[in-house]
Amino acid sequence: MSTQNQQNGPASTLAEGVPRIKVSLTPMFATWVYLCEDGPKHLNQRLEELAHQLMQDNSNAIQRTNHGGWHYAFDLFKVEEPVVAEFRDQMEQHVQAFLNHFRSDGNKKKDSFCLKGWINVNRAGDHNVLHCHPGSFVSATYYVKVPTDIKGGEIVFRDPRGPAVAMYETPGIELPWVGSGMGVPFSPATGHLLLFPAWLEHRVERFEGSGERISIAFNACNP
Ligand SMILES: [Fe+2]
Repeated sequence: MSTQNQQNGPASTLAEGVPRIKVSLTPMFATWVYLCEDGPKHLNQRLEELAHQLMQDNSNAIQRTNHGGWHYAFDLFKVEEPVVAEFRDQMEQHVQAFLNHFRSDGNKKKDSFCLKGWINVNRAGDHNVLHCHPGSFVSATYYVKVPTDIKGGEIVFRDPRGPAVAMYETPGIELPWVGSGMGVPFSPATGHLLLFPAWLEHRVERFEGSGERISIAFNACNP
């Protein structure tokens, strides 16, 4: 059903000759996830090489949300490499586009923010536990490399409304606001970029397949 004002009334109860009534539907507390399937793929090879270069130093690794896998311990955007500067420029434009999407024409503007990021490298059997990104307002994942034979490895966003919506589920009646309880998965693919509110909890499913699933996660923060 449309989310805009609707002139047709409840279609299933309309009968011939009955006056139509006006109703409206208002989506409230919506959660927005930004997906670009056309990220800066031309940087991927150099980003992958940078990941492998950083992985050679054990002091660059840290355990955070990763169960297995490799997680860069520091801020990627402080690495002084041309490819990082190019990547930052691209990602800042995406964050700005995300913010401006919600502003009317004439009210779009350039915001002041900084990016802090890190590289994740997961191999078969690795996953990331449920978490959110405190201290920032928008978070993101860019997929540098995803094996074509990947099974699993989805990023799964948890319903931010909590478990209450499922508690009021009514057997036999399909309610649009009751989710599966399992969250909403996005399958990663090379070159895809996801932006989402930093408070939106997410996890990364264990994947099976060959090779490495390389992603760059980053946060947009106050400068
Ligand atoms: Fe995350």
